Amino acid sequence: MSKVVALANQKGGVGKTTSTINLAYALAQKGKRALAVDCDPQGSLTLYFGYNPDELEDAGHTLYNAMMGEKAMDSIILGDNPALLPASISLANAEPELLVRIMSSSQKVLREKLKGIRDRYDFILLDCPPSLGLLTINALVAADLVLVPVKTDNLSFHGVARLFQTVEQIQSDLNPTLRIAGILPTQYNPRNLHDNEILTGVRQALDGQSVRIFDPVNRSTVFDKATSTGLPTVATTPGSASVLSYHQVADTLINLP
Ligand SMILES: Nc1ncnc2c1ncn2[C@@H]1O[C@H](COP(=O)(O)OP(=O)(O)OP(=O)(O)O)[C@@H](O)[C@H]1O
Ligand SMILES: [Mg+2]
Repeated sequence: MSKVVALANQKGGVGKTTSTINLAYALAQKGKRALAVDCDPQGSLTLYFGYNPDELEDAGHTLYNAMMGEKAMDSIILGDNPALLPASISLANAEPELLVRIMSSSQKVLREKLKGIRDRYDFILLDCPPSLGLLTINALVAADLVLVPVKTDNLSFHGVARLFQTVEQIQSDLNPTLRIAGILPTQYNPRNLHDNEILTGVRQALDGQSVRIFDPVNRSTVFDKATSTGLPTVATTPGSASVLSYHQVADTLINLP
C-alpha cells in the first residue's frame, strides 16, 4: 500500500520543494518507488528536477492537463525513480476552474486522479504551493500524511496553527484518515540564537500534542548549488549533514504504520 505525503505550509520559501525532491531521491536510494508531484503553479519542483515547465506547458504535459481530464495521469509522468508529475503556470487556472465545477466535488479531483497510479509507488510526495487554496486542499484530501517544513530563521511557525486548523477541518469533512507526519524545521543555523529560540518556541507550542518534530535540516549552501543541476542535494552531495537529516525523515516515513 503506498503512502501519499503532502508537504504543505502556506508560508513561502520554507523548504517544501527542497524537501520534496530530496526525500524523493532518498526514498528511491532506499529501494522505494517514489513519485514526486508538483502541485504548485510556480513549477519549482519541475525545475529542480531539471525540466522546463514552459516547454511542458506548450506540450500539454502537466498536472493541469491531467486534473482537467485532458490527459491520463500516467501519460504525464516523467522519469522512473524518482518519477515526477510536472506542473507549470497553467496549474493556476485549475483553482478557478475547480471552483466552478458544479458536479463532482472540487476538493477530491487530485485524490481521484491519483487512484489509478497509486499502486505503482511506495511513496507519492505532493509539493504544495504557498497558500491554503484549492490546490493545497486537493493535496491534503489526497494525502495520508502531511509533513510541514518550517523555516527556523523567521516567524514562519505562526502560520502552522492555521494549517493545523485546515488539517482538522479536512479530517472531519473530507479525509478522516489524514495524519500529521510532523514538523520539519529547515534552513536551521545551530549557531544563530534566533533559530534556536524559534525551535524552542515550536517545541513549547506543541508540548503535550502528539506532533512529531523532526531533527532540523541545517542551513547549507549545498542546496543552492543543487537547484541549478536538476539533481537534489541528496544525489549530488550525499555526505552532507543536511542530506543525513533527509535520510532520517525518509526512514521515519518508511517506518510509519
Ligand atoms: N536547508 C537549507 N539550507 C539552505 N538553503 C535552503 C535549505 N532548504 C532550502 N533552501 C533554499 O531556500 C529556498 C526556498 O526553498 P524551497 O523552494 O524548497 O521552498 P518552498 O517552501 O518550496 O518555496 P515556495 O513556497 O515558493 O514553493 C531555495 O533557494 C532553496 O535552495
Ligand atoms: Mg515550492
